[in-house]
Amino acid sequence: MDWEAHETEAQSAIAGASTQAQLEAARVGYLGRKSELALALRAVRDRETGMLLNGIRNRLETAVAERQAQLERAELDRALTEDTVDVTLPGDELPLGHLHPITQTQREIEDAFIGLGYEVRDDREVETTEYNFDKLAFDPWHPARSHRATFFFDENRLLRTETSPSQIHALEEREPPIYMVSIGRCYRRDTIDATHYPIFHQFEGLAVDRGLTLADLKGTLLHVMRAIFGPDRRVRFRTHYFPFTEPSMEPDVSCGICGGAGCRTCRYSGWLEMGGSGVVDPRVFENVGVDPDVWSGFAFGCGIERVAQLKHDIPDIRPLWEGDLRVLTQF
Ligand code: DAH
Repeated sequence: MDWEAHETEAQSAIAGASTQAQLEAARVGYLGRKSELALALRAVRDRETGMLLNGIRNRLETAVAERQAQLERAELDRALTEDTVDVTLPGDELPLGHLHPITQTQREIEDAFIGLGYEVRDDREVETTEYNFDKLAFDPWHPARSHRATFFFDENRLLRTETSPSQIHALEEREPPIYMVSIGRCYRRDTIDATHYPIFHQFEGLAVDRGLTLADLKGTLLHVMRAIFGPDRRVRFRTHYFPFTEPSMEPDVSCGICGGAGCRTCRYSGWLEMGGSGVVDPRVFENVGVDPDVWSGFAFGCGIERVAQLKHDIPDIRPLWEGDLRVLTQF
């Protein structure tokens, strides 16, 4: 074996390795356990050959280590020059989400009531006929009890048709005085059109205290409508009927688009219907064991979609449920 030629060959393989993998292959080939050098070293019998072969091994190992260090340095240099980050380049604009217009409206309404010291409730959407109708003094023949108007699970369980059951829950859970607002989803078997959807949102208010009157109801709604729609709003009431209030009234808010002069949105009346309200019927107090001779109160309920539509001039509520970003990103 010409060990001198062998070493030269090994040195040039090591020096010529341009990647870590090539260097490793050269190391295994010339220094590995099955390399000619290793086999020869194991078989060595005389001192002279031993010194020769050990010398070759030491020089080759040094060469591998040096080449290894060179390759690592080259790799680092490459990474430093090629992978530089240009911090002056404009960044990628990431799409940023935002709250749904119904949620935004809901929160504005909540804020207005929190400002008045009202407690915000979140009640169940699956109700019983007892809470959705009976305790609210709905007559047995009331059309809302029909399976054609309301989603029933069985004879007694249904999807609430309004947030008014929250009045009963609040009255049962605590002693008056009560000032609460309950916001959430309601369900009715309505045909879908520009202003109706089988799922919708309401906010329901109830105030129970000593000596509350219609004037308090009117002042409360006026404050809230002004907080939501702006300071120039007026509120008026039209008499109506609801099972759980007596007297009952529908509050109107003056139209903000025409300032009350009459326009398309308010159908040239100058007023917009907001929902229902009234003085709590003594029958409701009796149903929950509150003494109507001591306590009086008022209640109101309005659709949140309606508020959002008026606030943002939204002609059709259907896109609000379709998750269409072309619509939703406008709010
Ligand atoms: N729950 C009624 C509805 O959905 C609205 C309503 C009317 C709520 C009168 C009230 C109220 O609290 O006092 O049509």
